[in-house]
Amino acid sequence: MGFPQTRLRRLRNSAAIRRMIRETRLDLDNLMYPVFVTGGTGVRQPVETMPGVYRFSADTLGAEIEEVVSLGIPGVILFGVPDPAHKDEKASAAYADDGIVQSAVRQIKAGHKDLLVATDVCLCGYTSHGHCGMVCPTTGNILNDPSLSLLARTGLSHARAGADMVAPSDMMDGRVRAIRELLDREGLDDVPIMSYAAKYASAFYGPFREAADSAPQFGDRRSYQMDPANSDEAVREVAQDIEEGADIVMVKPALSYLDIIRRIKDEFRMPVAAYNVSGEYAMVRAAAQRGWVDERGLVLEMLTSIRRAGADIILTYFAKDMARWLREG
Ligand code: PBG
Repeated sequence: MGFPQTRLRRLRNSAAIRRMIRETRLDLDNLMYPVFVTGGTGVRQPVETMPGVYRFSADTLGAEIEEVVSLGIPGVILFGVPDPAHKDEKASAAYADDGIVQSAVRQIKAGHKDLLVATDVCLCGYTSHGHCGMVCPTTGNILNDPSLSLLARTGLSHARAGADMVAPSDMMDGRVRAIRELLDREGLDDVPIMSYAAKYASAFYGPFREAADSAPQFGDRRSYQMDPANSDEAVREVAQDIEEGADIVMVKPALSYLDIIRRIKDEFRMPVAAYNVSGEYAMVRAAAQRGWVDERGLVLEMLTSIRRAGADIILTYFAKDMARWLREG
């Protein structure tokens, strides 16, 4: 039956009916908040490209985590920002037992047992050249297989420090298996892996690279991150990571890749995470600061669309704002 018997507007006429038939709900339960940790003391350094985001040293991190917990956000993902003097060709600071992330994990878990603490496992913030894997000194190529053991060591050191979940974001082939095997061998078989499975070579990461001081010193990441034009390849990437032992698969970025999120959810029926990345955050913040957009409305709509596309978990720099807005009702 069509119009006039059917009138779709009937179910839009009051807030109550709209509320009852709403298909997608945004809930704090699905959000993770990214946190940047660095060395030194007394550091609470604003990230210029991401207003409202800071880098914290060990002594200032506590207050930030307190806030996250009191807002009811269930989990954080940590990124380490080492002193440039500690970067080297082999990313030694990435897997040091007393490294920035390892120490932060120990500190957070000591005070907040129930907060889920995930860690980003990658080398780019720790290598002198800023690439996510080892670099061949003669060709400048990013080497896949020699990077795997370093990534696995990094994941292991995070898990040993008490990380509840490790999240490899490097995009080397075989890294999920390498991490899984090492964790299992070391008795950490309970620690899940959230793999950045379909991670695209995206201009939306620009602001993050300032935050993490992780921009490649030469070339770009297109030999390991995916071509934004590809969708079938995302299915292959995700299938491979699941086969290697990924527990949660991530699509990144989120907003220009909602079709990929939906496709991965339909194809695999696995828990899917989506990363609402730095550029997506910066665009909204910048426009909102000028009064050009309704920030709250925009963020609610964007995060809802990511959920509607099929994401179970959203990693977002808006998590704290969202928590406040949801509380206000
Ligand atoms: C590290 C990593 C990046 C992001 C998360 N992990 C940057 C990159 O791949 O260059 C991006 C996050 C964001 O933009 O918010 N490999």
